[in-house]
Amino acid sequence: MSRKVTKAIFPVAGMGTRFLPATKAVPKEIMTLVDRPLIQYAIDEARAAGITEFIFVTSRGKSALEDYFDAAPELESSLKRKGKTELLETLQATNMESGAIAYIRQHQALGLGHAVWCARRLIGDEPFAVILPDDVVAAEKPCLQQMVEAYEETGGCMVAAMEVPRSKVSSYGVLDVKEDMGNMVSARGMVEKPAREEAPSNLAVIGRYILTPNVLNNLNTMKSGAGGEIQLTDAIGTELENGRDVYGYRFRGQRYDCGSKAGFLQATVAFALARPDLRGEFSQYLDEMMSVRNAAE
Ligand code: G1P
Repeated sequence: MSRKVTKAIFPVAGMGTRFLPATKAVPKEIMTLVDRPLIQYAIDEARAAGITEFIFVTSRGKSALEDYFDAAPELESSLKRKGKTELLETLQATNMESGAIAYIRQHQALGLGHAVWCARRLIGDEPFAVILPDDVVAAEKPCLQQMVEAYEETGGCMVAAMEVPRSKVSSYGVLDVKEDMGNMVSARGMVEKPAREEAPSNLAVIGRYILTPNVLNNLNTMKSGAGGEIQLTDAIGTELENGRDVYGYRFRGQRYDCGSKAGFLQATVAFALARPDLRGEFSQYLDEMMSVRNAAE
């Protein structure tokens, strides 16, 4: 099988209840870090990795996502008329090629594995990526690009991985490590959200995957697992049971859990400080805040 990865699935059907009431009207993926929606970071990362087909698994109430990726001709011509070239370029950079995006509905919230399975007919018989937009990774070389390069050497399935504190393992898929090769491990098994005392390691799966189409076949017969949901982790674990390789890739970069409020706020601060147009004013404000806080303590 070719090792060229050109398709990516973006599971965006979740209700985003942790961000209520905002998510009553706005899909979580449209929430912004500084001025870019979470989904834009995911798309940019996929593009950098060579992805040309973008498959969104959506649900009710997510039409704002489709609007976001639509062309905005009135806005573009108004910016052009006013000579706002920089804004126009910012806007045009979000335009997607016609036919590059497909939307599939997940009709029932049966879990991440089920969401990915909903896109099976658009994947066919090739390897594909999965990007969870909640996990934002700031990196010099985008995370998925690092993985695609590693995958060209290894084949098999590959998941992004990072060490987390033992106290946090039950929030993640966790790898049972067979061999540790430094920036990469080969896995013996995978467990979704294990109890702390049962976790095989503290090497957690982060929301970037490169998967073979076998995983979609495995999902055909998958029963519900942790939390009563059909788990992607279990379908990848089945590959190991069938004697195929699964690798964990320790990416270089900083991951933010934008599915949690604290993670979202941390990412907001980090991305603001990384912006040349905001850095000065914003860091001065943070310094002032900290000194006021320290004086009060
Ligand atoms: C999902 C996956 C889990 C992975 C995590 C990374 O869980 O099921 O294996 O570790 O994403 O963010 P969720 O956070 O959607 O519950």
